[in-house]
Amino acid sequence: MRILSGIQPSGRPHIGNYFGMMEPAFHLQDEGDAFYFIADYHSLTSTHDPVILRENVRNLAVDFLACGLDPKKATFWRQSDVPEVTELTWILSCVTPMGMLERCVSYKDKIAQGVSPSTGLFSYPLLQAADILIFDSNVVPVGKDQKQHLELTRDVAQKFNDRYGAELLVIPEPRIRESTAMIPGLDGQKMSKSYGNTIELFEETEKKLRKKIMKIVTDSTAVEESKDPSDSYIVQLYRLFASADEVAEMEASFRAGGQGYGHYKQQLFEAVRDHFAPMRERREELLKDLDYVDGVLEAGAKHARSEARKVIDRVRDAVGM
Ligand code: ADP
Ligand code: TRP
Repeated sequence: MRILSGIQPSGRPHIGNYFGMMEPAFHLQDEGDAFYFIADYHSLTSTHDPVILRENVRNLAVDFLACGLDPKKATFWRQSDVPEVTELTWILSCVTPMGMLERCVSYKDKIAQGVSPSTGLFSYPLLQAADILIFDSNVVPVGKDQKQHLELTRDVAQKFNDRYGAELLVIPEPRIRESTAMIPGLDGQKMSKSYGNTIELFEETEKKLRKKIMKIVTDSTAVEESKDPSDSYIVQLYRLFASADEVAEMEASFRAGGQGYGHYKQQLFEAVRDHFAPMRERREELLKDLDYVDGVLEAGAKHARSEARKVIDRVRDAVGM
């Protein structure tokens, strides 16, 4: 079973990325042939400074290795080291009707946020389809916001197979973990770099982490009053870090009243800090050995590229090249 996922190097990873994509992806390393990459071609749609792009790729590689990517089990590379994906993107674009891309909400969302509408941004989902299809991927672990891109990938693969040959491209399945499909941010919307509502895995200092958590939106129920835990973002986030008993305790305390929201935010702060403490330590170690990090990406690229060649050769042959 080939498992594949990617993430854009467009800023520091946050708790939504971690529970929606990274942690499930690390978990799957033991269940099949895992392929994970840093999607720097995709980031060209939004990051226009070459120094920042390179720095973001490096940082994200360090974060992935610190958080649990095991290079002995998974192939890990930088997308642009396998340029064959751009060739497949072009070939796929010639079987994809305009309307299929026009329906993608990610494009409309980005434009609404003020990203300039380049043709790259418009065809972003096709590059993603190529990422997936060029490795004969079976399973793609992602958060819920990527569901539409996975549907498009399946449709495009089917169109290609209908035109050129029934089993040329493998049709992939998304793997979306329901419990962590959509992690809320500080304001309750989906946690996202584009909404400025994130809690990063590695905030610079504890003080900054605490300050952010204190910003989580709450209602104005008074300290002594009973509070409803069911729609509290504090409880929703706490659930990611605490045991079932600890969550039940917090919920009971909400209902009982007598504590302000600040008290629960402090509990959440401690849980987040402690959860990422060992990873932060490992990250510090990796930052002292960047040659190792670069070496992992290089070896990963070599292996990924040889796998990609197999599919691109098959595809070129099928279309008449
Ligand atoms: P962002 O919205 O912050 O730019 P990305 O689009 O780079 O995040 O997402 C990278 C991965 O993390 C994707 O698989 C995505 O589905 C997942 N992800 C991002 N935000 C969340 C969230 N709030 N909840 C669950 N998964 C998320
Ligand atoms: N579009 C994905 C995101 O923003 C990143 C991505 C690029 C990806 N290529 C992929 C995810 C292939 C899964 C498979 O999160």
